[in-house]
Amino acid sequence: MNQFSKKIIDWQKNQGRNNLPWQKKSAYEVWISEIMLQQTQVETVIPYYKAFIKTFPEIKTLAESSEEQVMSLWSGLGYYSRARNIHKTAKIILNKYKGKFPQDFKNLVELPGIGPSTAGAILSLAFELPGVILDGNVKRVIARFKGITNPIDNNETQKEVKSFAEGFLPKDSFREYSQGIMDLGSLLCRPKNPICNSCPVNKNCQALRLGIQEKIPLKKTSKPKKEKKIDWLLISSKNKILLKRNDSKGIWKNLWLFPDKDILSKDNISLLEKKESLPEIIHNLSHRKLNISTVKYQIKNKDRLKIDRSSSVWVSKADSVKMGMPKPIKEIIENYL
Ligand code: ADE
Repeated sequence: MNQFSKKIIDWQKNQGRNNLPWQKKSAYEVWISEIMLQQTQVETVIPYYKAFIKTFPEIKTLAESSEEQVMSLWSGLGYYSRARNIHKTAKIILNKYKGKFPQDFKNLVELPGIGPSTAGAILSLAFELPGVILDGNVKRVIARFKGITNPIDNNETQKEVKSFAEGFLPKDSFREYSQGIMDLGSLLCRPKNPICNSCPVNKNCQALRLGIQEKIPLKKTSKPKKEKKIDWLLISSKNKILLKRNDSKGIWKNLWLFPDKDILSKDNISLLEKKESLPEIIHNLSHRKLNISTVKYQIKNKDRLKIDRSSSVWVSKADSVKMGMPKPIKEIIENYL
């Protein structure tokens, strides 16, 4: 076996993370955790993962739930297409594969939301089969070890890193190896202040040899994000607030939001009593920066407010928890109600 993977496997057993809640679990649990971990940090994922598995302990319960239920458990986690894809994939696995996860790369990558790296994670972590994970942590470890100074997001560089990753695959212990290279990236080979003197593969690390660890991975200079201003109205009446279902296009498809200024018709304005402007929230999406201003209003008799009843609801704070909503809405409800 190559020395790189052998050293990582030995290190993982003693120094790696061995008590994450999705470790040594079924393919179903590994899959849910991997999807959550795609764009989200471990510490944030853990409570969401636990709540999700508690509500949907197996693929059948998930496939037979409504998309609304799935979205409510995803509230605040971001990148909501992940949740929609999870729901679609659960149905496919139940119907096409009788509820059993396929154990080969080709069938896995055909499932919605499962790309090559997630397929590699499921193969190695759940089935102990050869599978290559290439998430941000792993790419950083490999790029540093091999001293790759080209921008990591170039297609050519991606291919180069992938072929090194394939070459490093061990002959066995696929689970420990996959977990180990991710743990190494997260615990030692960190983006800033890497702890090279504790690293099991420091002897042959090209970046360390040249003293350029923190310069790798180099990113292409990206354009600044487009900014967008959002104005919301937090309208409450006794213990209820008004939420409006977003349309099915663009960001936050079908999630529940506060109404926007469209609700301020002449008739409605006279019914609303302005209370306070809440501090502006800056919320970053992958390609956009949102500047969110929210004004709090009160209304005495909520039934007089003219709203689109097909897409709007009055809910209590407690009931709002069961609805799918993005993080800024969730935070405003938690902090200002
Ligand atoms: N990031 C992606 N997958 C992970 C896993 N299984 N454990 C820790 N971090 C991860």
